[in-house]
Amino acid sequence: MKRREPPQKGGLRPQVKAVSPKIAKPEGRTPKPRHSSRVLSYLKACALILGTIYICVPFIIRLCPALLGKVVYLNMVKVPLFVDLKNPGEVLNHTINFYLTSEDGVTVGIWHTVPASRGEEAKDKDQRWFEGALSDDNPVIIYLHGNGGTRAVDHRVQLMKVLSRSGFHVLSLDYRGYADSTGQPSEEGVTNDSVFLYEWVKARSRGNPVCLWGHSLGTGIATNAARKLQEKGNPADAVILEAPYTNIRDAGAFHPFGKIYHIFPGFEYFFLDTMALDNIVFPNDENIKMLTSPILILHAEDDHVVPSSMGKELHEIAVNSRHPRDVKLVLYPPELGYKHKYIYKDPKLAETLWDFLNSI
Ligand SMILES: *[C@@H]1O[C@H](CO)[C@@H](O)[C@H](O)[C@H]1NC(C)=O
Ligand SMILES: *[C@@H]1O[C@H](CO)[C@@H](O)[C@H](O)[C@H]1NC(C)=O
Repeated sequence: MKRREPPQKGGLRPQVKAVSPKIAKPEGRTPKPRHSSRVLSYLKACALILGTIYICVPFIIRLCPALLGKVVYLNMVKVPLFVDLKNPGEVLNHTINFYLTSEDGVTVGIWHTVPASRGEEAKDKDQRWFEGALSDDNPVIIYLHGNGGTRAVDHRVQLMKVLSRSGFHVLSLDYRGYADSTGQPSEEGVTNDSVFLYEWVKARSRGNPVCLWGHSLGTGIATNAARKLQEKGNPADAVILEAPYTNIRDAGAFHPFGKIYHIFPGFEYFFLDTMALDNIVFPNDENIKMLTSPILILHAEDDHVVPSSMGKELHEIAVNSRHPRDVKLVLYPPELGYKHKYIYKDPKLAETLWDFLNSI
């Protein structure tokens, strides 16, 4: 009897399985032919609706490339909901929240976490103290997160903790359009925000190395920013790429979302070419050929979002285009289970980072 109710959104698949054996039976022998024919028509209607959506989405996206941009940036997903960004102490010790105006009309939110060794001192200090602390002897990492969510997302916070305990300052940026930052994201815009923050830090950090750390989508922002800084005559002190892709086109083709449409005729035309129409390129592969900054690539071999083959390819490109000593690749075997965002769990991460920094 329950099956007569209209199918729930998420319940479609199990229902298909439960019902199909009945459909297979010859009509005349089943006592309730009406029942099964009604279920069948529900299923047909659902299949028709899903099929129509499936077919329409590519056309809608092609007509309105900005929609695909929303999927790439996912900045409207402002999770976690219950962390007050103005009060980072809820999730991170010795951290201050502040805002910078990266361009006219664009204000971006940032968390500055000082090295844990300065944790006691940092208690109850204001932003001036934190700003002054940038000139101590500890290196600085500018963390450029991936798409979706805010600087309070748990795997980002966990990495901040690890980096702080390892002796680094960390500045974690929410680009324009993300979290409590104003404006709308665009490739050039989020790159500008990152360049701005780098220069702001560099003006306060005296001789300390300042590194750009990009994760996932943020790796493209990191190399874009590094390239811009280099063109301005101030190359970044180091670039660290966690789970990087070769370019957004390649990443899109592999991404779980893209995979749903792989069999769709014209997948490249509708999705991959459309990203370029919206000026979404994030060319890590092209950028890395040009960069003179030392580069460290971290990639887990069981990464299911960005395959580690892309990290390896970037490493190859970098090695073949410049002095190999300045490029390092660390791969994490699948049995560690670090996947796309858990490299912070590596107990040797601090050692890896210090070895890299000491070698450059
Ligand atoms: C802050 O540090 C204290 C003392 O080390 C610890 O008990 C607390 O859990 C930390 N808070 C957070 C949010 O990590
Ligand atoms: C980014 O900065 C450049 C100057 O470096 C400026 O010309 C451009 O308009 C900025 N782009 C955006 C989207 O803010």
